[in-house]
Amino acid sequence: MELLVTGSAGFIGSNYVTRHLAKFNNHSIVSLDQLTYAGNLENLKVVMNNPRHHFVNGDIRDKPLVDNLVSKNPDVIINFAAESHVDRSIDYPEKFLSTNTIGAYTLLEAARKYDIPQFVQISTDEVYGSLSTTDPAFTENTTLSPSSPYSASKAAADLLAISYYKTYNTPVKVTRCSNNYGPNQFPEKIIPLFINNLLNNKPLPIYGTGENVRDWIHVYDHCDAIDAVLLNGRSGQIYNIGGGTEKQNLEVADNLIKVMGSSPSLIKFISDRPGHDLRYAMDCSKIYNELKWTPKIKFESGLIDTIEWYKNNVTWLKNITNGSYRNYYDKMYGDR
Ligand code: NAD
Ligand code: DAU
Repeated sequence: MELLVTGSAGFIGSNYVTRHLAKFNNHSIVSLDQLTYAGNLENLKVVMNNPRHHFVNGDIRDKPLVDNLVSKNPDVIINFAAESHVDRSIDYPEKFLSTNTIGAYTLLEAARKYDIPQFVQISTDEVYGSLSTTDPAFTENTTLSPSSPYSASKAAADLLAISYYKTYNTPVKVTRCSNNYGPNQFPEKIIPLFINNLLNNKPLPIYGTGENVRDWIHVYDHCDAIDAVLLNGRSGQIYNIGGGTEKQNLEVADNLIKVMGSSPSLIKFISDRPGHDLRYAMDCSKIYNELKWTPKIKFESGLIDTIEWYKNNVTWLKNITNGSYRNYYDKMYGDR
Protein backbone atom coordinates (compact mmCIF):
# COMPACT_ATOMS: atom_id res chain seq x y z
CA MET A 1 0.00 0.00 0.00
CA GLU A 2 1.24 3.52 -0.81
CA LEU A 3 0.18 6.29 1.54
CA LEU A 4 0.28 10.06 1.21
CA VAL A 5 0.44 11.37 4.78
CA THR A 6 0.19 15.10 5.51
CA GLY A 7 1.32 16.82 8.72
CA SER A 8 3.99 14.11 9.06
CA ALA A 9 6.53 16.18 10.97
CA GLY A 10 4.12 17.10 13.76
CA PHE A 11 3.35 15.19 16.94
CA ILE A 12 0.82 12.58 15.81
CA GLY A 13 1.83 12.48 12.13
CA SER A 14 5.47 11.66 12.96
CA ASN A 15 4.48 8.92 15.39
CA TYR A 16 2.06 7.55 12.79
CA VAL A 17 4.60 7.47 9.93
CA THR A 18 7.32 5.92 12.08
CA ARG A 19 5.03 3.33 13.61
CA HIS A 20 3.22 2.47 10.37
CA LEU A 21 6.45 1.85 8.42
CA ALA A 22 7.71 -0.41 11.23
CA LYS A 23 4.42 -2.34 11.33
CA PHE A 24 3.88 -2.86 7.59
CA ASN A 25 7.10 -3.69 5.76
CA ASN A 26 5.40 -3.73 2.34
CA HIS A 27 3.90 -0.22 2.70
CA SER A 28 5.56 3.01 1.60
CA ILE A 29 4.80 6.60 2.57
CA VAL A 30 5.19 9.94 0.86
CA SER A 31 4.90 12.47 3.65
CA LEU A 32 4.09 16.15 3.20
CA ASP A 33 4.62 18.87 5.81
CA GLN A 34 5.00 22.63 5.66
CA LEU A 35 7.32 22.61 8.69
CA THR A 36 5.48 25.34 10.58
CA TYR A 37 6.60 26.08 14.16
CA ALA A 38 5.02 22.71 15.09
CA GLY A 39 6.66 20.65 12.36
CA ASN A 40 10.10 19.32 13.19
CA LEU A 41 12.19 17.01 11.01
CA GLU A 42 13.85 15.65 14.14
CA ASN A 43 10.52 13.92 14.79
CA LEU A 44 11.05 11.88 11.61
CA LYS A 45 14.74 11.11 12.11
CA VAL A 46 14.16 7.34 12.43
CA VAL A 47 12.60 7.16 8.95
CA MET A 48 14.43 9.91 7.02
CA ASN A 49 16.80 7.35 5.45
CA ASN A 50 14.20 4.65 5.04
CA PRO A 51 13.79 3.90 1.30
CA ARG A 52 10.06 3.36 1.87
CA HIS A 53 9.67 6.95 3.10
CA HIS A 54 9.97 10.12 1.06
CA PHE A 55 9.56 13.52 2.74
CA VAL A 56 8.23 16.56 0.85
CA ASN A 57 8.38 20.04 2.39
CA GLY A 58 5.21 21.82 1.28
CA ASP A 59 1.80 23.25 2.02
CA ILE A 60 -1.47 21.30 1.72
CA ARG A 61 -3.03 24.51 0.32
CA ASP A 62 -0.55 24.55 -2.58
CA LYS A 63 -2.80 23.22 -5.38
CA PRO A 64 -0.11 22.47 -8.01
CA LEU A 65 2.02 20.64 -5.43
CA VAL A 66 -0.92 18.65 -4.07
CA ASP A 67 -2.08 17.87 -7.61
CA ASN A 68 1.36 16.61 -8.51
CA LEU A 69 1.61 14.34 -5.44
CA VAL A 70 -1.93 13.00 -5.76
CA SER A 71 -1.52 12.40 -9.53
CA LYS A 72 0.93 9.64 -8.56
CA ASN A 73 -2.13 7.72 -7.34
CA PRO A 74 -1.47 6.82 -3.72
CA ASP A 75 -3.82 4.17 -2.29
CA VAL A 76 -4.79 6.53 0.50
CA ILE A 77 -4.43 10.13 1.65
CA ILE A 78 -4.32 10.57 5.43
CA ASN A 79 -4.68 14.22 6.45
CA PHE A 80 -3.07 15.08 9.79
CA ALA A 81 -1.89 18.54 8.68
CA ALA A 82 -3.43 21.27 10.79
CA GLU A 83 -2.94 24.21 13.06
CA SER A 84 -3.69 22.29 16.24
CA HIS A 85 -3.49 24.56 19.28
CA VAL A 86 -6.72 26.05 20.65
CA ASP A 87 -5.00 29.02 22.37
CA ARG A 88 -3.31 30.04 19.13
CA SER A 89 -6.63 29.81 17.29
CA ILE A 90 -8.02 32.44 19.64
CA ASP A 91 -5.19 34.81 18.60
CA TYR A 92 -4.92 33.87 14.90
CA PRO A 93 -8.21 32.36 13.68
CA GLU A 94 -7.51 32.99 9.99
CA LYS A 95 -4.55 30.59 9.90
CA PHE A 96 -6.78 27.88 11.29
CA LEU A 97 -9.55 28.39 8.78
CA SER A 98 -7.02 28.50 5.98
CA THR A 99 -5.03 25.35 6.78
CA ASN A 100 -7.63 23.24 8.56
CA THR A 101 -10.55 23.92 6.22
CA ILE A 102 -9.19 25.18 2.88
CA GLY A 103 -6.23 22.79 3.18
CA ALA A 104 -8.59 19.83 3.69
CA TYR A 105 -10.66 21.08 0.74
CA THR A 106 -7.56 21.20 -1.49
CA LEU A 107 -6.72 17.59 -0.64
CA LEU A 108 -10.32 16.41 -1.08
CA GLU A 109 -10.51 18.04 -4.52
CA ALA A 110 -7.33 16.28 -5.63
CA ALA A 111 -8.63 12.96 -4.23
CA ARG A 112 -11.82 13.45 -6.23
CA LYS A 113 -9.98 14.41 -9.43
CA TYR A 114 -7.66 11.38 -9.33
CA ASP A 115 -10.21 8.92 -7.93
CA ILE A 116 -8.08 8.04 -4.92
CA PRO A 117 -9.43 4.83 -3.33
CA GLN A 118 -9.39 6.16 0.24
CA PHE A 119 -9.19 9.45 2.17
CA VAL A 120 -8.86 9.53 5.97
CA GLN A 121 -9.53 12.88 7.62
CA ILE A 122 -7.98 13.05 11.11
CA SER A 123 -10.33 15.01 13.34
CA THR A 124 -10.99 15.69 16.98
CA ASP A 125 -13.55 15.24 19.76
CA GLU A 126 -13.53 19.05 20.11
CA VAL A 127 -15.95 19.33 17.18
CA TYR A 128 -18.72 18.11 19.52
CA GLY A 129 -18.29 21.01 21.95
CA SER A 130 -18.57 20.70 25.71
CA LEU A 131 -20.25 18.23 28.10
CA SER A 132 -21.49 18.84 31.62
CA THR A 133 -20.09 16.56 34.33
CA THR A 134 -23.16 14.32 34.08
CA ASP A 135 -23.80 14.26 30.30
CA PRO A 136 -23.31 10.95 28.46
CA ALA A 137 -20.16 10.69 26.34
CA PHE A 138 -20.06 11.91 22.71
CA THR A 139 -21.19 9.41 20.09
CA GLU A 140 -20.63 9.80 16.35
CA ASN A 141 -24.22 11.14 16.17
CA THR A 142 -23.75 13.91 18.73
CA THR A 143 -24.57 17.30 17.20
CA LEU A 144 -21.49 19.33 16.31
CA SER A 145 -21.11 22.39 18.53
CA PRO A 146 -17.52 23.65 18.32
CA SER A 147 -16.42 26.37 20.75
CA SER A 148 -13.09 27.65 19.38
CA PRO A 149 -11.91 28.78 15.95
CA TYR A 150 -9.73 25.63 15.99
CA SER A 151 -12.61 23.23 16.57
CA ALA A 152 -14.91 25.15 14.20
CA SER A 153 -12.31 24.91 11.41
CA LYS A 154 -11.97 21.15 12.06
CA ALA A 155 -15.76 20.68 12.12
CA ALA A 156 -16.00 22.49 8.78
CA ALA A 157 -13.41 20.11 7.32
CA ASP A 158 -15.30 17.08 8.68
CA LEU A 159 -18.55 18.28 7.13
CA LEU A 160 -16.83 18.98 3.83
CA ALA A 161 -15.23 15.52 3.83
CA ILE A 162 -18.59 13.81 4.47
CA SER A 163 -20.19 16.01 1.79
CA TYR A 164 -17.59 14.72 -0.72
CA TYR A 165 -18.63 11.17 0.13
CA LYS A 166 -22.34 11.99 -0.29
CA THR A 167 -21.98 14.18 -3.38
CA TYR A 168 -19.09 12.68 -5.34
CA ASN A 169 -18.74 9.23 -3.76
CA THR A 170 -15.19 10.13 -2.66
CA PRO A 171 -14.31 7.28 -0.28
CA VAL A 172 -13.84 9.35 2.86
CA LYS A 173 -13.50 8.19 6.47
CA VAL A 174 -13.34 10.60 9.43
CA THR A 175 -11.69 9.78 12.76
CA ARG A 176 -12.36 11.91 15.85
CA CYS A 177 -9.92 11.42 18.69
CA SER A 178 -9.59 12.74 22.23
CA ASN A 179 -6.48 14.37 23.80
CA ASN A 180 -3.22 12.67 22.83
CA TYR A 181 0.00 12.57 24.84
CA GLY A 182 3.37 10.93 24.22
CA PRO A 183 6.72 11.56 22.47
CA ASN A 184 7.27 14.50 20.07
CA GLN A 185 4.40 16.68 21.35
CA PHE A 186 5.19 20.40 21.07
CA PRO A 187 5.56 21.91 24.56
CA GLU A 188 2.57 24.22 24.19
CA LYS A 189 0.01 21.49 25.04
CA ILE A 190 -0.64 20.91 28.71
CA ILE A 191 1.32 17.68 29.33
CA PRO A 192 4.61 18.54 27.58
CA LEU A 193 4.37 22.19 28.73
CA PHE A 194 4.01 21.09 32.35
CA ILE A 195 6.79 18.48 32.06
CA ASN A 196 9.10 21.11 30.57
CA ASN A 197 8.19 23.60 33.30
CA LEU A 198 8.75 21.04 36.06
CA LEU A 199 12.13 20.10 34.55
CA ASN A 200 13.01 23.81 34.88
CA ASN A 201 11.31 24.34 38.26
CA LYS A 202 8.83 26.79 36.70
CA PRO A 203 5.13 27.24 37.65
CA LEU A 204 2.32 25.23 36.07
CA PRO A 205 -0.30 27.65 34.69
CA ILE A 206 -3.77 26.18 35.29
CA TYR A 207 -6.59 27.91 33.40
CA GLY A 208 -9.62 28.79 35.54
CA THR A 209 -10.42 26.31 38.31
CA GLY A 210 -8.56 23.35 36.77
CA GLU A 211 -11.73 21.28 36.93
CA ASN A 212 -11.99 20.93 33.14
CA VAL A 213 -11.91 17.30 32.08
CA ARG A 214 -10.10 15.76 29.09
CA ASP A 215 -10.06 12.13 27.97
CA TRP A 216 -6.40 11.11 27.55
CA ILE A 217 -5.09 8.62 24.99
CA HIS A 218 -1.49 7.64 24.27
CA VAL A 219 -0.47 8.62 20.74
CA TYR A 220 0.52 5.01 19.90
CA ASP A 221 -3.04 3.86 20.66
CA HIS A 222 -4.39 6.64 18.42
CA CYS A 223 -2.04 5.56 15.59
CA ASP A 224 -3.18 1.93 15.90
CA ALA A 225 -6.83 3.02 15.83
CA ILE A 226 -6.19 4.94 12.59
CA ASP A 227 -4.67 1.78 11.09
CA ALA A 228 -7.78 -0.18 12.09
CA VAL A 229 -9.96 2.41 10.31
CA LEU A 230 -7.62 2.53 7.30
CA LEU A 231 -7.60 -1.25 6.84
CA ASN A 232 -11.14 -2.22 7.85
CA GLY A 233 -13.28 0.89 8.36
CA ARG A 234 -16.20 1.75 6.08
CA SER A 235 -16.27 4.71 3.72
CA GLY A 236 -18.63 7.54 4.59
CA GLN A 237 -18.29 6.70 8.29
CA ILE A 238 -17.08 8.61 11.33
CA TYR A 239 -15.19 6.75 14.07
CA ASN A 240 -14.72 8.09 17.61
CA ILE A 241 -11.38 7.21 19.22
CA GLY A 242 -10.74 7.74 22.93
CA GLY A 243 -8.56 6.57 25.78
CA GLY A 244 -11.33 5.94 28.31
CA THR A 245 -9.34 8.02 30.81
CA GLU A 246 -11.15 11.15 31.97
CA LYS A 247 -9.00 13.41 34.14
CA GLN A 248 -9.41 16.92 35.50
CA ASN A 249 -6.50 19.18 34.55
CA LEU A 250 -5.61 19.51 38.23
CA GLU A 251 -5.34 15.72 38.50
CA VAL A 252 -2.98 15.69 35.52
CA ALA A 253 -0.86 18.39 37.17
CA ASP A 254 -0.86 16.48 40.48
CA ASN A 255 0.21 13.25 38.72
CA LEU A 256 3.09 15.01 36.98
CA ILE A 257 4.21 16.72 40.20
CA LYS A 258 4.14 13.39 42.07
CA VAL A 259 6.00 11.37 39.44
CA MET A 260 8.60 14.11 38.93
CA GLY A 261 9.09 14.68 42.66
CA SER A 262 8.24 18.40 42.41
CA SER A 263 6.42 20.75 44.77
CA PRO A 264 2.61 21.26 44.61
CA SER A 265 3.33 24.95 45.27
CA LEU A 266 4.30 25.24 41.59
CA ILE A 267 0.61 25.13 40.62
CA LYS A 268 -0.47 28.64 39.61
CA PHE A 269 -4.11 29.44 38.76
CA ILE A 270 -4.39 31.94 35.91
CA SER A 271 -7.28 33.47 33.97
CA ASP A 272 -9.43 31.04 32.03
CA ARG A 273 -9.23 30.28 28.29
CA PRO A 274 -12.12 32.06 26.48
CA GLY A 275 -14.75 29.53 25.38
CA HIS A 276 -13.05 26.84 27.51
CA ASP A 277 -14.90 23.52 27.09
CA LEU A 278 -15.65 21.94 30.46
CA ARG A 279 -15.48 18.25 29.61
CA TYR A 280 -14.84 15.83 26.75
CA ALA A 281 -15.71 12.12 26.93
CA MET A 282 -15.88 9.62 24.09
CA ASP A 283 -18.22 6.70 23.45
CA CYS A 284 -16.02 4.35 21.40
CA SER A 285 -18.45 1.44 21.08
CA LYS A 286 -18.61 1.83 17.28
CA ILE A 287 -14.89 1.33 16.65
CA TYR A 288 -14.82 -1.45 19.24
CA ASN A 289 -17.83 -3.32 17.83
CA GLU A 290 -16.88 -2.91 14.16
CA LEU A 291 -13.09 -2.99 14.22
CA LYS A 292 -12.30 -4.55 17.62
CA TRP A 293 -9.98 -1.65 18.51
CA THR A 294 -9.46 -0.67 22.16
CA PRO A 295 -6.67 1.41 23.73
CA LYS A 296 -3.88 -0.64 25.31
CA ILE A 297 -1.72 1.87 27.21
CA LYS A 298 -2.79 2.82 30.75
CA PHE A 299 -2.54 6.55 31.48
CA GLU A 300 -0.34 6.05 34.56
CA SER A 301 2.34 4.01 32.74
CA GLY A 302 2.03 6.07 29.53
CA LEU A 303 2.62 9.23 31.53
CA ILE A 304 5.74 7.80 33.21
CA ASP A 305 7.12 6.76 29.79
CA THR A 306 6.32 10.20 28.38
CA ILE A 307 8.14 11.97 31.25
CA GLU A 308 11.12 9.66 30.61
CA TRP A 309 11.04 10.51 26.90
CA TYR A 310 11.21 14.26 27.61
CA LYS A 311 13.98 13.74 30.17
CA ASN A 312 15.95 11.73 27.58
CA ASN A 313 15.31 14.30 24.87
CA VAL A 314 16.21 17.56 26.54
CA THR A 315 18.08 18.62 23.40
CA TRP A 316 14.87 18.25 21.42
CA LEU A 317 13.13 20.42 24.02
CA LYS A 318 15.99 22.94 24.09
CA ASN A 319 15.98 23.25 20.29
CA ILE A 320 12.34 24.28 20.54
CA THR A 321 12.44 26.48 23.60
CA ASN A 322 15.89 28.04 23.03
CA GLY A 323 16.50 27.62 19.33
CA SER A 324 14.70 28.62 16.18
CA TYR A 325 11.30 28.54 17.87
CA ARG A 326 12.38 30.94 20.62
CA ASN A 327 10.35 33.95 19.51
CA TYR A 328 7.16 31.98 19.21
CA TYR A 329 7.73 30.12 22.45
CA ASP A 330 8.55 33.24 24.46
CA LYS A 331 5.50 35.05 23.20
CA MET A 332 3.20 32.24 24.22
CA TYR A 333 4.88 30.88 27.34
CA GLY A 334 7.98 32.86 28.21
CA ASP A 335 6.44 34.90 31.00
CA ARG A 336 4.46 32.11 32.67
P1 NAD B 1 0.87 19.34 15.45
O1 NAD B 1 0.59 20.78 15.56
O2 NAD B 1 1.87 18.71 16.33
O3 NAD B 1 1.30 18.99 13.94
C1 NAD B 1 0.67 19.54 12.83
C2 NAD B 1 1.61 19.38 11.63
O4 NAD B 1 0.97 19.91 10.47
C3 NAD B 1 2.95 20.12 11.79
O5 NAD B 1 4.02 19.28 11.45
C4 NAD B 1 2.83 21.29 10.82
O6 NAD B 1 4.08 21.68 10.27
C5 NAD B 1 1.91 20.69 9.76
N1 NAD B 1 1.18 21.73 9.00
C6 NAD B 1 0.50 22.80 9.51
N2 NAD B 1 -0.02 23.51 8.51
C7 NAD B 1 0.31 22.88 7.36
C8 NAD B 1 0.04 23.11 5.99
N3 NAD B 1 -0.69 24.18 5.60
N4 NAD B 1 0.53 22.27 5.07
C9 NAD B 1 1.27 21.20 5.45
N5 NAD B 1 1.57 20.92 6.72
C10 NAD B 1 1.09 21.75 7.67
O7 NAD B 1 -0.55 18.63 15.58
P2 NAD B 1 -0.92 17.18 16.14
O8 NAD B 1 -1.21 17.28 17.57
O9 NAD B 1 0.06 16.20 15.65
O10 NAD B 1 -2.32 16.95 15.39
C11 NAD B 1 -2.37 16.28 14.13
C12 NAD B 1 -3.81 16.16 13.70
O11 NAD B 1 -4.54 15.42 14.66
C13 NAD B 1 -4.53 17.50 13.57
O12 NAD B 1 -5.37 17.43 12.43
C14 NAD B 1 -5.35 17.61 14.84
O13 NAD B 1 -6.50 18.37 14.61
C15 NAD B 1 -5.68 16.16 15.10
N6 NAD B 1 -5.90 15.80 16.51
C16 NAD B 1 -4.98 16.12 17.46
C17 NAD B 1 -5.19 15.70 18.79
C18 NAD B 1 -4.18 16.01 19.87
O14 NAD B 1 -4.47 15.75 21.04
N7 NAD B 1 -3.01 16.53 19.58
C19 NAD B 1 -6.34 15.00 19.11
C20 NAD B 1 -7.27 14.71 18.11
C21 NAD B 1 -7.02 15.11 16.81
O1 DAU C 1 -9.40 16.95 22.44
C1 DAU C 1 -8.52 16.86 21.35
C2 DAU C 1 -7.74 18.14 21.25
O2 DAU C 1 -6.81 18.13 22.32
C3 DAU C 1 -7.01 18.30 19.92
O3 DAU C 1 -7.95 18.38 18.88
C4 DAU C 1 -6.13 19.55 19.93
O4 DAU C 1 -5.37 19.63 18.74
C5 DAU C 1 -5.19 19.47 21.11
O5 DAU C 1 -4.44 20.67 21.20
C6 DAU C 1 -5.97 19.25 22.40
O6 DAU C 1 -6.76 20.44 22.72
P1 DAU C 1 -6.89 20.97 24.22
O7 DAU C 1 -7.27 22.40 24.18
O8 DAU C 1 -7.75 20.06 25.02
O9 DAU C 1 -5.37 20.77 24.69
P2 DAU C 1 -4.41 21.70 25.62
O10 DAU C 1 -3.24 20.85 25.96
O11 DAU C 1 -4.18 23.02 25.01
O12 DAU C 1 -5.30 21.89 26.91
C7 DAU C 1 -5.73 20.78 27.68
C8 DAU C 1 -6.46 21.31 28.89
O13 DAU C 1 -5.53 21.96 29.75
C9 DAU C 1 -7.52 22.35 28.57
O14 DAU C 1 -8.62 22.20 29.47
C10 DAU C 1 -6.82 23.68 28.82
C11 DAU C 1 -5.88 23.33 29.96
N1 DAU C 1 -4.60 24.07 30.00
C12 DAU C 1 -3.83 24.08 28.88
C13 DAU C 1 -2.63 24.73 28.86
C14 DAU C 1 -1.76 24.76 27.62
C15 DAU C 1 -4.19 24.70 31.16
O15 DAU C 1 -4.89 24.67 32.19
N2 DAU C 1 -2.99 25.35 31.16
C16 DAU C 1 -2.19 25.40 30.05
O16 DAU C 1 -1.09 26.03 30.10
